[in-house]
Amino acid sequence: MSSEAEVRESVKEYYGKKLKTVNDLETQACVAPGRKVTRPVKEAIGLVHEVVTSKYYGCGLVIPEKLEGMKILDLGSGSGRDCFALSKLVGPAGHVTGIDMTDEQLDIAREYIGYHTKKFGYTKPNIDFVKGYIEKLTEAGIQSNNYDIIVSNCVVNLSPDKKAVLQESYNVLKEGGELFFSDVYADRTLDESIRKHKVLWGECIAGALWWKELHTLASEIGFSKPYMVSVTPIPVDRDDFKAVLGDAKFASVTYRLFKLPAKQSEGTQVIYNGDIPGYEEEFNFDYKTKLKTNDINAVDGSITTALKASRFCEEFDFQPPVKKSCGDSGSCEDSKAEDPFVYLEEKNKKGEVVAPACCPSSKACC
Ligand SMILES: C[S@@+](CC[C@H](N)C(=O)[O-])C[C@H]1O[C@@H](n2cnc3c(N)ncnc32)[C@H](O)[C@@H]1O
Repeated sequence: MSSEAEVRESVKEYYGKKLKTVNDLETQACVAPGRKVTRPVKEAIGLVHEVVTSKYYGCGLVIPEKLEGMKILDLGSGSGRDCFALSKLVGPAGHVTGIDMTDEQLDIAREYIGYHTKKFGYTKPNIDFVKGYIEKLTEAGIQSNNYDIIVSNCVVNLSPDKKAVLQESYNVLKEGGELFFSDVYADRTLDESIRKHKVLWGECIAGALWWKELHTLASEIGFSKPYMVSVTPIPVDRDDFKAVLGDAKFASVTYRLFKLPAKQSEGTQVIYNGDIPGYEEEFNFDYKTKLKTNDINAVDGSITTALKASRFCEEFDFQPPVKKSCGDSGSCEDSKAEDPFVYLEEKNKKGEVVAPACCPSSKACC
């Protein structure tokens, strides 16, 4: 696969013709389970039609907190499982748009709009599916500065131009908007010989970014630091695939990135009010920033800016920082890029099991 067009055609063939259901996948990359699900999320996913669910190829849970009334875009929406669950969670005042380049996937998604509109008791659909490339959102008619949230589930790795995908996402997000997405990452830059493997590319492995590259791209474009929300290992068991991949390791990681205003806030102490449905006890900003309801937590300037600029602002009380509460310098800034593979190793050492990707036909994949 030498050109971008060739990569896209090969992926279209994979998701349009080769795969009929999730059971046709040859690795577990595209069905890695995500983090724990809250009751409203579980219920919304449970309402999605089984034909749509049988063609779900995601690798994480791309349903963030506080969705009512939100305008959401799903990059590479496939048969629409996440879109339909989100359509329930945003309610009739919200809207979800899915964009995908593969006709066969779009046909299924569109066929089930009426079913879900009726099932959720809406008088008119709050969802639509657009044909287009995620590297060219404007060309597909997606409006700039228009979305509160962008989600994407196991798709960016399939793109031959990841920077364009992130740049276009930035353009169509409103200020304070969030890109919340799950994808496959490698622990290194993959060799060209791996990149050319059509099946491993289609399986969401060969196109994986080295996790550090995501941090570089995010900073070049102007996004906040990518905050790691959850990590799941992706074991590759087949000998013929292992022969191609060598020692490279893979994991599915869910990140959240924000389009921040130019002026950054100072670090603050924040108190979460516990009012977001499904998150009454605590709000996990990322895997290590767990904000218990009514507790006082010191957070850095970047997290403060993200919380203040986004839909989460009214859920928090912001108080001045206590001097020297975050190390000797008094600075709470934490710009360190966390390595998802070190995270998994540390969990392993402590004997805390992070479940690897599950069996494709298992309902446990949610
Ligand atoms: C692994 S599937 C995931 C589908 C869906 N997100 C899910 O979780 O079931 C990848 C999807 O992304 C779409 N896709 C891949 N590359 C794309 C691109 N460059 N532009 C638009 N869609 C793309 C494919 O057509 C396919 O439907």
